Amino acid sequence: MKNKIIIANWKMSLLYQESMDVASAIAQLKGNIPPDVELVICPSYVSLPGVAEILKNTDIKIGAQDLFWEERGAYTGEVSPVDLANFGCSYAIIGHSERRMNLAETNVMVHGKVKIALKNKLAPIICIGENWDERHVGQRDYVLIRELNEILGGIQLQDGDNVVIAYEPIWAISSGKGIFAEPQEVKYVSEVIRQVLIDLYDAHRIESSIRFIYGGSVNKLSIKKYTELPHIAGVLVGNASTKPEEFISLIKNA
Ligand code: 13P
Repeated sequence: MKNKIIIANWKMSLLYQESMDVASAIAQLKGNIPPDVELVICPSYVSLPGVAEILKNTDIKIGAQDLFWEERGAYTGEVSPVDLANFGCSYAIIGHSERRMNLAETNVMVHGKVKIALKNKLAPIICIGENWDERHVGQRDYVLIRELNEILGGIQLQDGDNVVIAYEPIWAISSGKGIFAEPQEVKYVSEVIRQVLIDLYDAHRIESSIRFIYGGSVNKLSIKKYTELPHIAGVLVGNASTKPEEFISLIKNA
């Protein structure tokens, strides 16, 4: 595992041809990605094979934006983790707040998805975070602790498993107004998460298999504030990752 990780979540922001164009621009980066930075691109499902093809001769990894908690069966509209792995994915975003809000995804579903991801050697990028109201009444830590326990409780991690926990405060996502969590707060949250993990796993397992990252309005100017914090392995980037120039500067600034 490299020291730092930058994950691009293209959401449904890029259509197919735009995804190919942005992937081609990112593929040009090759030698310019800092050697200690792992770069992961998460395109839409339909764009995934095309993006994988464009990036096949680079070190850049591919992730899915979701997966289903079963490998096959009568699940109309869902995508199998087996196919995702076979199409070259090594990561999968799971439990993004946009899915929780728009599709009523619950921690129970996220738990099942994390389990099947690990079974298929897909590294889950588990998204957790509080909304503005929860934050205002002082419930941030409670929300994070509950989410982590419900998602990871009962899941054993083995050697070689790779888990990313993304703190994405809902109020900071796609704010478009430069609203983001201050690095000091992200650092504090990383400590809260570590306390929860210590109850679930031994210290060696946490050290070898779990990384903590931040997501929410990260851009080329703010990236360094997060990547230079000791316990933050990297960032999950939405909007800024869909604009090639901005994203390339962001990577260089990491
Ligand atoms: P923005 O970077 O657009 O705020 O999105 C963050 C996010 O939701 C990444 O998953």
